[in-house]
Amino acid sequence: MKFFLDTANISEIKKGLEWGVVSGVTTNPSLVAKENADSFHDHVKKIAEIVQGPVSAEVISTNVDKMVEEARLLSSLDKNIVIKIPMTKDGMSATKKLVSEGIPVNVTLVFSPQQALLAALAGASYVSPFVGRLDDIGEDGIGVVRDMAKLFSIHEFDTKIIAASIRHPRHVFEAALAGAHIITLPFKVLEQMFNHPLTDIGMKKFLDDWEVYIKHHGY
Ligand code: G3P
Repeated sequence: MKFFLDTANISEIKKGLEWGVVSGVTTNPSLVAKENADSFHDHVKKIAEIVQGPVSAEVISTNVDKMVEEARLLSSLDKNIVIKIPMTKDGMSATKKLVSEGIPVNVTLVFSPQQALLAALAGASYVSPFVGRLDDIGEDGIGVVRDMAKLFSIHEFDTKIIAASIRHPRHVFEAALAGAHIITLPFKVLEQMFNHPLTDIGMKKFLDDWEVYIKHHGY
């Protein structure tokens, strides 16, 4: 099981890597736009150089040929770039084509187990169910991840499930329990995961006790 960061922010990525718990990054057009970088390609290249692991970058086009063209350009930026392709008919045709060229694909905007099957059959390396957005409309995002994981296991697909659209720490362990191979987290959720009041209380007690001891003794 792996954690990726769902961000295009360089300092967040550097922190996640420094903490030793992050091994990849996923971006989307909204996340990249937020960073206001001068060049999309230069920004993605910079992220890939820092991460040294899979970095998903999304195509903007909606027809097969344009998606493939965009994907080839993105893929030429760094060996670790994974192309994010939307779950559409054109998207699956583009996926098939890119996979035949050895370019890894992450199929995004996936909301049902049947869509995940389509992505796996088209040869995607990754499929990204949006847990939070399903919950937002009253559906069971984690349940969808669980069904996908079961289907992939029964039929021995190599496609990895990236649980995306994660809203809080509970989503993280529930997605892991449901069988997601990777969870892509907003930086805020990753930070929240460290917190527990008993850890803070425990740290304070250890340090207070130590201070009393060290006043009267040496090392
Ligand atoms: O990157 C895809 C996904 O993680 C987006 O999440 O929060 O916009 O629903 P969100």
